[in-house]
Amino acid sequence: MSLTIIKGTILSAPALGQLEAVPGGYLVAVDGAIQGIYPVLPEQYAGAPAEDFGDALILQSFADLHLHAPQYPMLGMGMDLPLLDWLNAYAFPTEARFADTGYAREIYRRLARELIENGTTRVCMFSSLHTDATLILMEELEKAGVTGYVGKVNMDRNAAPGVLEETTEESMRETLRWLEASRDFRLVKPMLTPRFTPSCTDELMAFLGRLAAERDLPVQSHLSENQAEMAWVRQLHPDCQQYWETYAKYGLWNDRTVMAHCVWSDGRERRAMGDAGVTAVHCADSNQNICSGVAPVRAMLNEGVKVALGSDIAGGDHLHMFDVVAASIRASKARRVLDNWETDLLTVPEGWYLGTSAGAAYFGERPGFAPGNRLHALVLADDQLPQPHPLTPQERLERAVYLRQNGAIRAVWSEGRKVFSAEN
Ligand code: GUN
Ligand code: ZN
Repeated sequence: MSLTIIKGTILSAPALGQLEAVPGGYLVAVDGAIQGIYPVLPEQYAGAPAEDFGDALILQSFADLHLHAPQYPMLGMGMDLPLLDWLNAYAFPTEARFADTGYAREIYRRLARELIENGTTRVCMFSSLHTDATLILMEELEKAGVTGYVGKVNMDRNAAPGVLEETTEESMRETLRWLEASRDFRLVKPMLTPRFTPSCTDELMAFLGRLAAERDLPVQSHLSENQAEMAWVRQLHPDCQQYWETYAKYGLWNDRTVMAHCVWSDGRERRAMGDAGVTAVHCADSNQNICSGVAPVRAMLNEGVKVALGSDIAGGDHLHMFDVVAASIRASKARRVLDNWETDLLTVPEGWYLGTSAGAAYFGERPGFAPGNRLHALVLADDQLPQPHPLTPQERLERAVYLRQNGAIRAVWSEGRKVFSAEN
């Protein structure tokens, strides 16, 4: 049996908009499973070694439910272009480089470390279309302690012929080879990843839908991010009234489906998400960078749509989830103005819930540090700044969000394992 006891100011998000603070508390996990948070260490653990982080904050680590690993080398590039131009000018040529497995190894090792050092322990991630580089990505994530899902991207039309595109037959064959080779991963699992409707033929979409059903595989893709993209989808699928139906008609739309962006999803499309249990991933930095728009997150939440957050590197220009939370709050303020002050902005506890508990829910976890959850946590030694008064844990969290972390991450646990320590 392995016992982990961490002491500090424990703060968690047990429900949307709620915080639970236990100053000087003990977070206990046995074999990676959380037993509880205790103001006083229970008798049964007395004498066991505890890691005491003093007054530092012990927080849930982050879940980044949408990012593109092969776009990591192009962070901050092409940010004045709209989506479709940006894909052609920057994303596709950058992803093409991952045909080189040596390059993939070097980049993905760095990416995995940077995620862990910044407290992201769960992901839903796009790779490129390259099977071997995708397997390398899965290896590097698992080694670093990042858990979750990775997808070999499928794209057999409208991409970059000769540079970054598969034939339909190649795409199917390579997907099967990748799934076969993915069997032995323990913490990082495969997720079917049609890039988006414009880049996949009907034949390929139908194949992926069948595969999802036969092998019980989850699906991730993009939805209603940009108006030019949506007009293109309407041209390609005149039989579908809305974008989401192009996924639904091939069996790619269910309660394990993750759809990035959903910026322009109207009431009808949001209802389809809520009815099916699809998770919408809000990527506020990316939406601002490439001028996609401002997603109606409050409406989604009010209507019972599942919402999580994504850095969407490299539409997003960084992978720091404290800042992704802040970006989602800023976006909600813009949305409020666009909605004539009729929608409420996201509060800090709400934004932080979306970046932690809501993302973890996709992986079957209960909100907060609930007993039975796997231990995914970080220690933040925050606030070297002057303070107007002694801050409450809630105020410290607010500063951590708005000041993009406001201090050093001292340690990170993923699946019960300590995967980062600033001391080493
Ligand atoms: N839609 C299709 N591919 C992409 C991508 O790489 N990034 C974003 N933001 N949207 C996409
Ligand atoms: Zn994306």
